[in-house]
Amino acid sequence: MESPVARLVRLTSLQPMKFQAQDIPEGKVLSICTCGLSQKFPICDGSHKAARASEQAGMLYVYNDARTQVVEVRPDPAGEGGPANPT
Ligand code: FES
Repeated sequence: MESPVARLVRLTSLQPMKFQAQDIPEGKVLSICTCGLSQKFPICDGSHKAARASEQAGMLYVYNDARTQVVEVRPDPAGEGGPANPT
């Protein structure tokens, strides 16, 4: 199995964002961002597409505070049997 891509992003919110059924237009789908790069976080804005095209499995990508640019790339220590949360 191929190693996943990992990234470090700065998310500063300390509270949840609540959605109710009426927040979603009928017949539409609300996509929640799981990559951490959306500028409309936690709503997916499609930013994952650029990351998917440029990031490689087994690497850890560190993004700037705005989550718009990679500032560091290093091997993912958790991607090769290392600790998931290195200290
Ligand atoms: S999953 Fe993060 S922008 Fe789409």
